[in-house]
Amino acid sequence: MRLFKQLFVVLGTLVILLAVMMLFTYDVIKVEWPSFMEIQPSFRPMEDPLPPPERSIPVEGPVSIPNLGAPENPVEADETSVARGAQLYSIHCQMCHGVTGEGNGQIAPFLVNFKPANLTLPVVQDKSDGALFLTITNGVTDRMPALNENLTVRERWDVVNFIRTLKAAP
Ligand code: HEC
Repeated sequence: MRLFKQLFVVLGTLVILLAVMMLFTYDVIKVEWPSFMEIQPSFRPMEDPLPPPERSIPVEGPVSIPNLGAPENPVEADETSVARGAQLYSIHCQMCHGVTGEGNGQIAPFLVNFKPANLTLPVVQDKSDGALFLTITNGVTDRMPALNENLTVRERWDVVNFIRTLKAAP
């Protein structure tokens, strides 16, 4: 009889201990362990992305180095590049700048304050390739959207090479 009683006490104690541990395991009693995954630098959807760490360079190479002016065009304006540029232009620019680049795209009439630039004119054509590249990359504040997320670096240079073919005949 005595043995039974002792066994009962031991087993009872074990069960109670297990039950208490389960309370923590299943978060019935929640303890904020610092190892939770949600506690880490991160950003939620629609939040501004974190800036890249200082002195980091994207795998495609630096797009442009601040204070060093416009970058050089590394992509030769051959047939392939211009053809790709034309296709990308028709997707990303044509609705504003128009098929011929004269600033008469379908949505141009709805842009009330600032009309899309006429890309055939010397004001645009006299700029360096790098300047056009930066315009596509950063947009024009409050006038033209930055398209750096739509076009890769290589694609932007293809578009620049295509813009050169839009030059108005003198
Ligand atoms: C939402 C319409 C819109 C889209 C899309 C757009 N642009 Fe523009 N773009 C504008 C407007 C508006 C201006 C005129 C800004 C101003 O008045 O200075 C402009 C200006 C420019 C200029 C002249 C900038 C300068 O400094 O003179 C270039 C070059 C240009 N766009 C190229 C492009 C290219 C290439 C694309 C596609 C990759 C593109 N744009 C897409 C609206 C657009």
